[in-house]
Amino acid sequence: MEDLAGKVAFVTGGASGIGLAMAHAFAREGSKVVLADIEVGPLETAAEELRAAGADVIGVNCDVSDHSSVVAAAARAVDAFGKVHVLCNNAGVAPSGAVDETTPEDWKWCLGVNLMGVVHGIQVLVPAIKAHGEGGHVVNTASIAGLIALPTLGIYTATKYAVVGLSETLRGELAPFGIGVSVLCPSFVKTRLHESHRNRPAELGPGPGEPDPFMAQMLSTATDPQVIGERVLRGVKRGDFYILPHPDVKLGFNARANEILAACDLE
Ligand SMILES: NC(=O)c1ccc[n+]([C@@H]2O[C@H](COP(=O)([O-])OP(=O)(O)OC[C@H]3O[C@@H](n4cnc5c(N)ncnc54)[C@H](O)[C@@H]3O)[C@@H](O)[C@H]2O)c1
Repeated sequence: MEDLAGKVAFVTGGASGIGLAMAHAFAREGSKVVLADIEVGPLETAAEELRAAGADVIGVNCDVSDHSSVVAAAARAVDAFGKVHVLCNNAGVAPSGAVDETTPEDWKWCLGVNLMGVVHGIQVLVPAIKAHGEGGHVVNTASIAGLIALPTLGIYTATKYAVVGLSETLRGELAPFGIGVSVLCPSFVKTRLHESHRNRPAELGPGPGEPDPFMAQMLSTATDPQVIGERVLRGVKRGDFYILPHPDVKLGFNARANEILAACDLE
């Protein structure tokens, strides 16, 4: 989707981190932006920040794990801007801990946001993009953890592998409608992901050992989200399917692919 001027981008998890960086990148191209996020304070601050930079933006309170909340947010977007062209299913959370020590509540939360959040975005907004017939693009935020399993992040890894698989299917389904699909798989980015328990619903109780000190350490020195936002913008304009901003993924993915290929030859 080369020309994004005047188009409308709907970004979940848009109040901070990678989502906010994508919003800024789209706004700089002249897109109108809808920030959909569960965290009201940062959402207002983020919308103000974009407005100050000259963007046409609305912030919408939305819990992506709740289908009806995504329906309501989409209706607000259409009320404000008439259409949506670019859908960024980006909201995510990252509870950590050995899989056998995780609880049903940990799974409910992370699957609800990271996987069902993406499903809800597709179910609610893709039919609207198809209906206006002007084409569009869907960006699903997975992770390097969608291509290589990460230790102590079993739930997160399961959701991100699912998002990669879902995106690979979606790509074929949407091609006939002129709607592109990308799956974003970054390595560590300097955001508040290690503090994602701040958005864990109270009724699910506290998560295990959060914030995770290893993640906090890795994220503190990681890539600036702005770099990821610009890379996503280039990917959408070029129609890249896999958006892999960190080339060091190659080593781990190669090892995994080689092991799978070798296993094909075992009797
Ligand atoms: N930071 C990294 O190192 C990294 C690496 C790979 C992938 N990712 C992915 O990038 C995406 C964005 O994360 P980030 O790193 O910017 O972290 P972040 O915590 O800064 O941003 C996540 C955003 O999602 C929002 N959110 C959380 N639960 C929500 C819900 N139920 N409904 C709507 N919004 C909700 C948060 O309020 C926040 O604004 C996530 O999907 C994450 O898994 C991050």
